[in-house]
Formats: sequence, structure tokens, C-alpha cells
Amino acid sequence: MCGIVGILGQGPVAPSLVEALKRLEYRGYDSAGIATLENGRLERLRAEGKLKNLAQKLASHPLSGTSGIGHTRWATHGKPTENNAHPHASDKVALVHNGIIENFRELRAELKAKGHVFSTDTDSEVVAHLVSEAMREGLKPVDAVAASLPRLRGAFALAFLFEDEPDLLIGARRGSPLAVGFGTEEEPGIYLGSDALALAPFTDTITYLEDGDSVVLTRSRATFFDAGNQIVERRKIKTQAGAFLIDKGNYRHFMAKEIHEQPEVVGLALGHYLDFSAGRVALPFALPVNPASIDRLTICGCGTAYMAGLVAKYWFERFAGIEVNVELASEFRYAEPPLKADGLTLFISQSGETADVLASLRYAKARGQKTMGVVNVETSTLARECDLAVPIRAGTEIGVASTKAFTCQLAVLASLALAFGRERQAISDETEARLVGELMAVPGLMAEALRKDSLVEQIARDLSHAHDVLYLGRGTAYPLALEGALKLKELSYIHAEGYAAGELKHGPIALIDETMPVIVIAPPSPVLEKTISNMEEVAARGGKLILIGEAGLARDVADEVKRSLVLSPMAPDFAAMVYAIPVQLLAYHTAVVMGKDADQPRNLAKSVTVE
Ligand code: F6R
Repeated sequence: MCGIVGILGQGPVAPSLVEALKRLEYRGYDSAGIATLENGRLERLRAEGKLKNLAQKLASHPLSGTSGIGHTRWATHGKPTENNAHPHASDKVALVHNGIIENFRELRAELKAKGHVFSTDTDSEVVAHLVSEAMREGLKPVDAVAASLPRLRGAFALAFLFEDEPDLLIGARRGSPLAVGFGTEEEPGIYLGSDALALAPFTDTITYLEDGDSVVLTRSRATFFDAGNQIVERRKIKTQAGAFLIDKGNYRHFMAKEIHEQPEVVGLALGHYLDFSAGRVALPFALPVNPASIDRLTICGCGTAYMAGLVAKYWFERFAGIEVNVELASEFRYAEPPLKADGLTLFISQSGETADVLASLRYAKARGQKTMGVVNVETSTLARECDLAVPIRAGTEIGVASTKAFTCQLAVLASLALAFGRERQAISDETEARLVGELMAVPGLMAEALRKDSLVEQIARDLSHAHDVLYLGRGTAYPLALEGALKLKELSYIHAEGYAAGELKHGPIALIDETMPVIVIAPPSPVLEKTISNMEEVAARGGKLILIGEAGLARDVADEVKRSLVLSPMAPDFAAMVYAIPVQLLAYHTAVVMGKDADQPRNLAKSVTVE
């Protein structure tokens, strides 16, 4: 993971480096650092913890160099200490790195034998020594980097700064994303960054490096090289990443703001794929396959995006009558499953940069699959590399825990499932119209669910004392139970598990006692009676039931239920989208009550660009 940036500017670049890093904090936030050239000499400033610590240091130790690199870290090798923070340096080279150098141990041993002294526990430092060794052997910086890159195994985006070279930056990528930004005549400068968002304060004209590319930057030009070190042309594009840092509005956290935005963004997403007045799905693109000609759909993603895939499986199977396999990208890529040529694999990813998803995409493409990417960041690698990118239009999601991206993914997946159903003649026009109507009702129902905010907060106060929590659900509420448990774990650090309610009796029921909160997600469903039976089983063993369901249900089981969150009546098919709201709010409030950082939970990063 990690975010990297580099600037060749006119005035002091340190404040701009920090500004760019602010926009990259979603990629990691356990330490940060910058290096600039002060009178030709490399000067580094690094700090443990969040970026504000680095900004404070910079305020008391201003740097004046006009060229520099910066980094915000998500530790892979070595603790998140100041010493392990990037930039790393050796002799005349400083660098920042995003990714993992898999063969760092053997390279380090080789370089130690040549007299190099290592000062960090990171894999990245070895690259600085490798390049400085090549320079000791007489190579110029550009040739030294070119000679070193082929020796690296693993994934990387790198930016290099060199002593006595105030008009030079070198960037390189393999696996991890990297872009060059071009300043304007009024505000000249040339930039490197992990993504367009980081470069947005400086420019909207960028070039993405392709996999294996490197780039040599001076203030007047960018020269791109392909994986074979041949000069290549790479296209400039205009981005719409936006120059403004999205702010929290009146909310305490981005996460709260993003939860509350859902009625609006889900409505916009649905409006993009449905024709509300005709009661029809109206996809604004041609699908890469004829849905009637395939007999299986593979869906692939990680974390919350994977949960969205699990929900969608129910929809595609029910409405389109198509067999669906939902795969965790980190498993899929190594399991090497057989995939029929000309079949379809659909990838779900908010960032579009998740390393396991990208590797799975490349695997699927190599097996002759057509590929679709249900993606939020429309300039991401997934969006660019898949056959058809389907934007979820959630807007920038800053909170590390995914919320509005999840429900917008569901909005898009529901629309696609209906489109497949129609093409495969699995649903009639009437059914399509009814289901489109049900989808159109979702944003309003979400807005009603959000009005339960203060009630959820009260329940969260109870939950904050728990050590372990069980979430139960059936049908589409089962993946929602998994998602609820994931959200609670990542935000509050309380251990939680999600189970299919019917699985309770096959093991987890042994955990139930009077200290164990059991959250039952019980939206309207043909199998609601069965869920009620499972609730009775929990109650009979003294478990603390927390029910999320409709009014009638809460009355039926009132005696057993310690707490209930009553939502408005709704049709069953897309209720999971609405029930996601209290599930997210519960995790959010529990974290806040416990004094945890809801926007940046420990050990996590928004974009997981390592395996
Ligand atoms: C959990 C969460 C993560 C992401 C996962 C995939 O709240 O946000 O589980 O869903 O890391 O990320 P994307 O969707 O960017 O591929």
C-alpha cells in the first residue's frame, strides 16, 4: 500500500508534498516522510503516526528545496516507527516505495557483503542501496535505476531523488499505480503521484504509467520507458479528480457523512442504470457478453466488495437464473480455477486498485474471460484494464471502512441482475417493472432508516461493553451479517462473527450465554419464520438478542428481545440495501462511543495495493 508523491517545482515543495500526502492518507497512515534537496544535499524529515505529526515537524523545521519526494506508509515490513518511515536513503539516493520487494532478503545479503550498512527493517531500503551501488560502480542516476529495476521481484511504485540533481526525478511502476502530472504555464511544475487525487491540487493533466514503465522527469519534460527500457509515448489525459479536498461538512467523521449520503448517492446510481418512468432497466452501455449465451457468472472481490458480490449472487440466481460463483480475489488468483473462454467475470472494487483484484483480473483475461469492473474510482487500474467499467458513482469515499460504496455497488449489481434477467428471459416485463419500482423505493427507505440514528447510538453504548458479538441473517441478510461483523471488528476492534442463521445450531450456538450480544438482521423475507426460530434458540440459551426488523416481528418476539431497531415495512427483494444502514451505524457509533478513530481504524488502509 502506501502513497507516494514527487515534485519538481519552482518554489519550496515541502508544503505541496504534505498537501498531496493528505490526499493519499487513505493508502496508509502509520507514518509519513518527505525528502527535499537543500543546496544540492538530501534532507529528510520523517514522523511516526498520522500526517499531522509530519506537518508539525515541518512547521518547526521548514525545508526550502524546490524538488522533493514524499510518502505516507502502511507498514508491511518493519514496525511503523520513524526510523522505518520513508524516504529511505543510501549515499546520493533517496526513494519512496509503495509495494513489496519480495527478494529483499537476498538483495540485502548481497549488498551487505559489498559493505552497505542498512538502518531500517523495511524491504524498501534495499532499493536505495541497490541504486547507490550501481552509482558507486560509475553509472549515472538514470542508468543506475534502469540497471536496478530488473533485479527487483514483487510489486512497486517508486520515486527517486538524487543528491546534486535538482532537476531530476525518476519514477517506476510494476504492479502498483503511478501517474505523472504536468503543471501549467502559469503554475509550472512536474509531479509524480500514486493517483490523480494526489495530483489534483496541482494539475488536471496526467499520464498514467503502464505496468513495467519508468519515467525520467526534468522540469521541462517527461521521458517514458517501457518494461524493455525503450522510449515510449504515453497519452496525456484530463482528470476530474477535483482540486478540493472533500470536507466533513457538519459531521464529526467522514464515515458519518458517507453513511448519511447514501439515499442521495444510491438514488443517483440507480437513476443512471434504470429508467424510472418506464419501469425498465436502461443500461447506458452494451454488455461485453450476451447474457443469454453464458451459463455461469464469476464474481470476484475483497472485503466489503466481496460481501456485495455475495448479496448479488442471490439476485443474479433469482432474477436471471444464472449460476454464480463468488470468489475472494486473494484465493481466486492462486486457486487457478478453470474458466470457460468467453465466459464473464465481474470484479467489484471501490478503489479499483486492490492488488488481489487486479491480479485476478489479469488471470481471468488470460483465460479468455470477458471482464467487467463495478468500480468507484473511474480512473483506476481496474476501470482501465477491464473490458467494461461500470461506475457505481458513490463519489469519493474517504472513511476507510466502506459504506456508501457498498450500497452503490449493490445498486449497480441489482440493476445488472435485472438486465441479465431480461436478456435471459428469466423475468417478465411485469416483474421487471415491479422490481424496478422496489429499487426506486430504496433511497427513501434508507432516509427513513437514517432517522433511527440516535436509537442506534443507544444500542451501541451497550454493544461497546461486549467482547464478542454474533451477527445472524438468512438470504441476502446473511452476507449483511458478515458485513456487519466485519464493520464492527475493523472499527471498534470488538471480535465479531457473521453466520447464516441456520448454521447456528451447527456449532456457534455453543458460544451463546448471557454475555453474548446476538444481532439478528431480519428483513422481510420468505424465510423470516425460520429466522424467528433461530432467535428463539438464542433466547432459550440466555443470549442478548438485538433485533433489526419490522414492527410486527419485534412484537411477536418482544419477550426475548433485549433491544430492537424497527424499520419501515418494505418489499423483500432489495431490503438488504436498506438494512445496511443500521448495520453500518451500529459499527460507527460503537467505535465512537469507545473513543476509536472511525475514519482511520488502526492497521488498515483504504486502498490495499499489496497482496
Ligand atoms: C471494509 C473495507 C474493505 C474493502 C476491501 C476492498 O470496510 O472497506 O474490506 O472493501 O479492502 O477494497 P476495494 O473495494 O477498494 O477493492
